[in-house]
Amino acid sequence: MRNGASNTGTAGIEYFFNPRSIAIVGASDDKKKVGGRPLAALIERGYAGKIFPINPRYEEVAGKRCYPSILDVPDDIDMVIVSVPAAAVLEVLEQCATKGVRAAVIFSSGFGEVGAEGEAEQEKIRKLARESGMRVLGPNCFGIMHVSNAVMATFAHELETKSDSPRTLSLVAQSGAFGARMFEDATKAGVGCTSFTSVGNEADTEFSDFVDYLLDDPDTTIIGGYLEGAKDGAKLKRAAEKALRLQKPLLIMKVGRTRAGSRAASSHTGSLAGADEIYDAFFRQMGIVRIEHPDEMTAFAILHRDGRDYSGGRVAIVSGSGGHGVMLADKCETVGLSVPEIRGHTRAKLERSLPAFGSGKNPIDLTAAANGKPEMPSGCLRALAEDEDNIDVILTMPFFQWERSKELAQEFVDIYRSTNKPLVVMAHDRPDSDEAAARFALVQSAGIPILYDQFQATEAIAKLSWYQRKARQGRVVDTGPKAPDPASCAEVREMLRGGEPLSEFGCKQLLKKYGIPVTREALATSADMAVELSRNLGYPVALKAQSGQILHKTEAGVIKLNLASDQEVRRAYKEVLANARSYAPQAHVEGVLVQEMVRDGVEVIVGVTKDPVFGPAIMFGLGGIFVEALRDVSFRIAPLTRADAEEMIDEIRGRRVLEGMRGKPPADRDALIDILLRVSQLVTDHRDQIDELDLNPLVVLPKGAKVVDALITKRAR
Ligand code: ACO
Repeated sequence: MRNGASNTGTAGIEYFFNPRSIAIVGASDDKKKVGGRPLAALIERGYAGKIFPINPRYEEVAGKRCYPSILDVPDDIDMVIVSVPAAAVLEVLEQCATKGVRAAVIFSSGFGEVGAEGEAEQEKIRKLARESGMRVLGPNCFGIMHVSNAVMATFAHELETKSDSPRTLSLVAQSGAFGARMFEDATKAGVGCTSFTSVGNEADTEFSDFVDYLLDDPDTTIIGGYLEGAKDGAKLKRAAEKALRLQKPLLIMKVGRTRAGSRAASSHTGSLAGADEIYDAFFRQMGIVRIEHPDEMTAFAILHRDGRDYSGGRVAIVSGSGGHGVMLADKCETVGLSVPEIRGHTRAKLERSLPAFGSGKNPIDLTAAANGKPEMPSGCLRALAEDEDNIDVILTMPFFQWERSKELAQEFVDIYRSTNKPLVVMAHDRPDSDEAAARFALVQSAGIPILYDQFQATEAIAKLSWYQRKARQGRVVDTGPKAPDPASCAEVREMLRGGEPLSEFGCKQLLKKYGIPVTREALATSADMAVELSRNLGYPVALKAQSGQILHKTEAGVIKLNLASDQEVRRAYKEVLANARSYAPQAHVEGVLVQEMVRDGVEVIVGVTKDPVFGPAIMFGLGGIFVEALRDVSFRIAPLTRADAEEMIDEIRGRRVLEGMRGKPPADRDALIDILLRVSQLVTDHRDQIDELDLNPLVVLPKGAKVVDALITKRAR
């Protein structure tokens, strides 16, 4: 590798964005050809670096000297665009490496996406990149574009769409075509794009590398992504954490929502963790804004550039039509915003501006009486802008028309300048006269967001509000207090060694080392001992035959509950052992666990499954039918922050059960959070040894909590 420098992650990526010279292999005068487009675009946009067309068929292309090969170019080359058929790519890359090229963009298809043979060729590209230190983008990509210095290393005509808007948005896409469309739509809607990267098959560089790099770019204040699947979950996590730290929103359209089938797993948690649930959880945890449609990203970017605080999420809607106001209010509440009723002083002010038949409650209905009376809406807007206590965002005038609003445009600007609150103009039509265009320009240049689609606007406000809360909270993973002493940690490592599955008793011994509270219990190896232990624990008790080979105890008939006397314990002891023997004759039975019966709590499940992309994922849900039938569970990736644990509890639909219903006392939320954090610590410390874990049930009591049954699956070797 050249210069001994690192050639992974973001190393060398600057050469894609700021190359001092660009060569195009397969260059053509024909703008319709893939190799012709970037050359024409570089020249047309005025790229200031040197351009070297490479094609053995020509002496000159686009008025520039053309070279037969990279090796014939006399100057240094920072970046090469490769636009030749797949079969010729490797040889070209080898020449690039010999020449000391820093970055190569490969448009060519016909690699990993076409099967094993292409995969093998792609692997050669990766190897060459790693060995030479030259960074590679693609293959099978639309290339890269950096607007400020006219680096048009792409053949996508959508990327030629120009914009006068301030540049804020960088796009990174795993689908070139989809990403290019996102770029075009955003640009046409008035969002200025800083850069575009199509990562293609990601032989060397990948999605997260570009996100990570662009976060340091001062011209990028927001990043949009199209993602089919992250190649390296840890890298994406680092990039997302950095984005949150720098307060640059990362919006990702993640496709592939449908359940591709649960992974084969022996635990509950494993069967409930579909790939999309894990992505969804990861996004929420990391403050990544998940978008369903590119227009949402555009609306978000328009709102975000006003730099105002949407986080409170309390919206006032000022409408000229009662129906639209109500519709919008419904939408706001559906997406998690609130539309509080306005009372007191502000209400009185509103009513002074409204006709007697209008409404100042919220949505504020101006009625048709507002036509031709700009003082009416502006009076209302001023009253709302002055209300510091109840309203965070003002959504004004669904169906605002530029043509019919001579004075109002200036009023919007004056009111906007008088407050720090976001004021969002919901316009009906695009300006189609000079006068209307001047009004539009006045409002827009003041920095007021103007949106057209009301539903997308509300979605985007809700997402920005969520994002800002998340960014303010930040991510603090406090691992210290939940970690056991080094000796206990080493003991746990020892317990998890080897292929022998752990019995419930074994799992509980292990959990105790991490301070996770379990039922009072002990192992009996005779009926007399079982009776003695039962008396010590106090009746009633439960008996469970213990074997790492018998995981489903109820099915095997090796569990007896609510035993209230010596006699019952003796009988049960014999029965569970006999059942264990007939259910699994080869199983090693350690003995019979004598366990206290736990009452008066809420049964929940805490589980862990190993996600192939993100590693240990923790699940929480109410026990029993809620998990089975309703899939009412939440996930987060380990390690958890306290806020993650809180969100996991608040996210499930059945959360009220924990708050105490029908005379029952509330369950001990702090104890539950503590257990979630300890489980997170355990699976983080031993991620190489634990595949799955179920605490099911975990009973959360009015004070404290206890693991009643546990299953830990050691890592399959
Ligand atoms: N050095 C220099 N020039 C060369 C070399 C070489 N080693 N080998 C060939 N050339 C020249 C050829 O002479 C030709 O010149 P010409 O245009 O004067 O005839 C030029 O390179 C291109 O070669 P062609 O054989 O004409 O190839 P063509 O341009 O038709 O196709 C391409 C090349 C575009 C790379 C094609 O193989 C391909 O992969 N197309 C798909 C690209 C694509 O869509 N990628 C993105 C997918 S993104 C997504 O999201 C799926």
